[in-house]
Amino acid sequence: MEADLEGLVIPRHVAIILDGNGRWAKKRGLPRTMGHKEGCVTVEKTVEIAARMGIEYLTVYGFSTENWKRSEEEVGALMQLFRYYMVRLLKIASKNNVRVKMIGERSRFDADIIEGINRLEEETKDNTGLTFVIAVNYGGRDEITRAVRRLMADCLAGKCDPASIKEETISGYLDTAGIPDPDLLIRTSGEIRLSNYLIWQTAYTEFYITECYWPDFNREELLTAIQAYNRRDRRYGGVKG
Ligand code: IPE
Ligand code: IPE
Ligand code: MG
Repeated sequence: MEADLEGLVIPRHVAIILDGNGRWAKKRGLPRTMGHKEGCVTVEKTVEIAARMGIEYLTVYGFSTENWKRSEEEVGALMQLFRYYMVRLLKIASKNNVRVKMIGERSRFDADIIEGINRLEEETKDNTGLTFVIAVNYGGRDEITRAVRRLMADCLAGKCDPASIKEETISGYLDTAGIPDPDLLIRTSGEIRLSNYLIWQTAYTEFYITECYWPDFNREELLTAIQAYNRRDRRYGGVKG
C-alpha cells in the first residue's frame, strides 16, 4: 500500500462527475474542446492512480443523455476524442490489468464507436484489477426507463412475477448490474447536483464536491476526497453503533 494511504479506508467504488472542462479552457482563453482534450488525459491518469490505490470500481460520467443539446461542433469534437481515447484506453487497461465497462445507451453512437466500445469490453473482460466504468450517453432516468421496459417485457412473457419484484431485481436490470453501489461520489468544479448520474445507485453514497476543474484533478485531490470520506459518519438510516 502507498504510504500516505496507511490507516485509511479505501472506498470500494468511487464515482466521478468530471465537470469544468469548458471553464478550464475559458480561463486560459482556449476553445472548450481543448478543455475536453485535457480532460481525457486526466481520465487516463485517474484510472492509473485509482488502480494503484486499490480502488475496485471507478465510474466516470463522460457524456450524458442531455449533452446532445450542446452545439454540433462540441458534440462532434467529443465523439472524435472518444474514438481516439478508446484506442489509448485499450493499452492503458492492458498495462494496468483494468477491466473496462461502458454504461449508457450505446446504440445512438456511430457504428465504429459501438464497435470500439464492444471491443474494449471484450478484450479487457478477463482483467482482474480495477473495473473502470465509463458512462456515455448515460442518464439515470433513461437507464431506469430502459430497465422498466425489459422488466415489463419479461413479466408479460411469464419470466417474472410482478409480486416478486424486489429492489435487487431492479438493480439487476440496470446497466450497473453486478457492480456495487458507489461509496463516494466526487464532482469537480463546484456544482452541487447529480445531473442525472446514477440516481438509483447513489441512494446512500457520500458526496464530495471540489472547486477544482476536472483537467486539474490529480492524486492529491483524490486523496483529499478519500480523507474526507473517512471522516464521514455513515449510518444508512440507523444510529451510530
Ligand atoms: C465536463 O465539462 C465534460 C462534459 C460534460 C462532456 P463541461 O464541458 O461540462 O465543462 P463546463 O461545465 O462547461 O465548465
Ligand atoms: C454532467 O455535467 C455530465 C457529465 C459530466 C458528462 P454537465 O456539465 O453536463 O452538467 P450540468 O449541465 O452542469 O448539470
Ligand atoms: Mg459542465
